[in-house]
Amino acid sequence: MADRTFYATTPIFYVNDAPHIGHGYTTTMGDVLTRWHRQRGESVWYLTGVDEHGQKVLRKAEANGVDPQAWVDGLVEREWKPMLQTIDAANDDFIRTSEERHKIGTQAFWQRLFDAGAVYKGEFTGWYSVGSEEFVGDDDVADGEGDDEGHKVSTLDGSRVEHMTETNYFFRLSDYQQKLLDFYEANPDFIAPASARNEVVSFVSRGLTDLSISRSTFDWGIRVPWDTDHIFYVWVEALLNYVTAIGYGDDEERFERMWPADLHIVGKDIARFHAIIWPAMLMAAGLPIPHRVFAHGWILVGGQKMSKSKANGIHPNEIVETFGSDAYRYYFSRALTFGNDGSISWEDIGARYHAELANGLGNLASRAAAMVGKYFDGTLPAAGDLTEREQAVIDLVAQVTTDADAAVDAAAPQDALAAIWRIVDALNGYVTDTQPWQVAKDESQREYLGTILNTTVEGLRALAVLLHPVMPKATEVLWESVGGATVGALADQRIDDVPRWGQIAPGTPVVKTAPLFPRIELED
Ligand code: MSP
Repeated sequence: MADRTFYATTPIFYVNDAPHIGHGYTTTMGDVLTRWHRQRGESVWYLTGVDEHGQKVLRKAEANGVDPQAWVDGLVEREWKPMLQTIDAANDDFIRTSEERHKIGTQAFWQRLFDAGAVYKGEFTGWYSVGSEEFVGDDDVADGEGDDEGHKVSTLDGSRVEHMTETNYFFRLSDYQQKLLDFYEANPDFIAPASARNEVVSFVSRGLTDLSISRSTFDWGIRVPWDTDHIFYVWVEALLNYVTAIGYGDDEERFERMWPADLHIVGKDIARFHAIIWPAMLMAAGLPIPHRVFAHGWILVGGQKMSKSKANGIHPNEIVETFGSDAYRYYFSRALTFGNDGSISWEDIGARYHAELANGLGNLASRAAAMVGKYFDGTLPAAGDLTEREQAVIDLVAQVTTDADAAVDAAAPQDALAAIWRIVDALNGYVTDTQPWQVAKDESQREYLGTILNTTVEGLRALAVLLHPVMPKATEVLWESVGGATVGALADQRIDDVPRWGQIAPGTPVVKTAPLFPRIELED
């Protein structure tokens, strides 16, 4: 369908946690991919938000002597919304699970499953981790050590578990084992990368037990509509954000237009919730299953998974204040392989910033504008006859556009950027080889001088468009430099139109701007 919306989501983050670059990573990758889809001319909807209910939030609010709603309101305004600005995310919506739309949709969804017989009342006895808001099986519980001495901990993530006995409602998850396995078989791309898929398939193959979906010992959550002594277990309402945000339960027309989601981006820690519980819930409701769950790896700092509890949590501000949001977005897209764990370091960010952004792209742009200024009074010269060298640049841009577009479909931003950087390198090589400053000395070569600079500026035009999803701000400056306004707004330039050569008319002013990526003095 031509006007179908490309609908992508991040997990909704626990509002209690201070945002760090792990959360920023998920959101940035989703933002890069969705901006690319917009630049293809597609209709796009990009959703992110926060997970506000559950025992952990309640306990924290109580410890701070604040009502839980006031507590989460403060965190959203102070922490989460500013983070989106810091990383320059262009999300279309931000859902909070304490919102009315989420409550309405959640109650409607589970009422439907209850009416259909997919839910029953029972007794839960077992372990629960408040830290990760997760029921933990007996086999996954061990004696704690060190600080956790005398407590039981979950071997899944080291969090402390508590033993509980509660009357709960249960979802008949065990009915879905074979249906899920059949679904994975028929939809091999549903969960990616392969490592996440294998883990999910083997988990389901070992058998599924019914899932407790309600809690009755505290009340910071959404009431179970058929039994108001209960609230929903936080995960089985959190997952529903993906449908409640687009109208499930109160705007069916909108919901049907946008569902299913095309892409759920999640960290690998929560792939199981998204690839097992979530599709089973949707099957029970007779709703379509999302096209894809993509599970990315960990950001490691000093070889360890970064997290707030380990006190190695880095806030995006710490990087953005020094390098800017564009370099931040570039670094995470380029230096890590989406889907694998990856280490980051301050030194590596600084090295890539200077080598790739300041010297590679920034210098190229400033040299081109300076030469057009010097040799052609700041207006773009026409290209004369093209030699093999120019043709090679033009062909490369066409090939790279195709390759980068395919990389985005494969959720591989690092490959898209590696492809695009072939243009940066090729243009730098082209200028070095053709030596326009020498050509300029020979008046009889004036036309070829024009050809060189025209080709370079057209190449920069292509780069501005291809890099806009990754570096929205710097590319606007580049667009201004190459006179892009005469072609149109940068955000309106289509990826498939990038290879069409000669879009900037000769005579267009090419201007010197402030450096795209000024050099930064880094302390040792
Ligand atoms: N609230 C649940 C998600 C509900 S979705 C219906 C949750 N929240 S969370 O705040 O713990 O966020 C987890 C997500 O944050 C991970 O899935 C991942 O996207 C991101 N990351 C947290 N730490 C990370 C790293 N160290 N590295 C990469 N991503 C990390 O789980």
